[in-house]
Amino acid sequence: MVIVVGSQKGGVGKTTIATNLAAWLVSKGAETLLVDADDQGSASDFSAYREQTRGATGFTLVQITGSLVRKQIESLKSKYDHIVVDTGGRDTTSQRAALFVCDVFLSPFNPRSYDLWTVTKVSELVDEVQSMRPAPMLAYSFINRADVKSQDNRQVSEVLQSYESLTFLPFPLVNRKAFANSAAIGLAVFEMEEPDKKAVAEMEVLFNAIVYAGHTTTQNT
Ligand SMILES: Nc1ncnc2c1ncn2[C@@H]1O[C@H](COP(=O)(O)OP(=O)(O)O)[C@@H](O)[C@H]1O
Ligand SMILES: [Mg+2]
Repeated sequence: MVIVVGSQKGGVGKTTIATNLAAWLVSKGAETLLVDADDQGSASDFSAYREQTRGATGFTLVQITGSLVRKQIESLKSKYDHIVVDTGGRDTTSQRAALFVCDVFLSPFNPRSYDLWTVTKVSELVDEVQSMRPAPMLAYSFINRADVKSQDNRQVSEVLQSYESLTFLPFPLVNRKAFANSAAIGLAVFEMEEPDKKAVAEMEVLFNAIVYAGHTTTQNT
């Protein structure tokens, strides 16, 4: 299955999600490809730290940007169980190209009003791409860096739920230091020596919902 993590905004947690997801899929025994489609190269930086920390990444990393993304993913699809694509925080050619070939589009939003302004843009992009695809992709929104108190996330949940083209996944990742600390050394949260159990549990719920919701592997799609 091809999963694209994207948004129209930087700093919302795309690279954090994409790299944790790639490591998580590897931990489940899946042949995984991580595509760094952001010209800032943060997923590649993560992978370099990861190789230093662990000796090997476990997944294959490639950097592909621009319109090449589409054809490259199409030709790599059959070789992997899962492909995770990390994109930049703008409506780039890379992100659009990835959206045409993915099974799942995953868009994180932070619970701050200025962040929410981009939901309309993301939803319009999804509508536009869906209308040009031979078969629809699954498009999800969820809250990243959520507030610990769940009532503080109610407003953002309501806004996200109101967009039909993005299915809201009610499985937030809370704002936790563990996500930043683990990424700094190239690890997923569950790979830390003393993992933050809450962070790990939140991620498990979110990733299970995405990966096991009606799709299996790239070979079957
Ligand atoms: N759930 C979270 N809790 C705490 N910090 C987070 C969380 N998600 C992301 N971050 C931090 O937010 C910053 C931006 O995240 P990043 O994944 O690089 O965003 P993007 O790829 O969308 O630009 C990073 O410093 C990252 O460590
Ligand atoms: Mg990034």
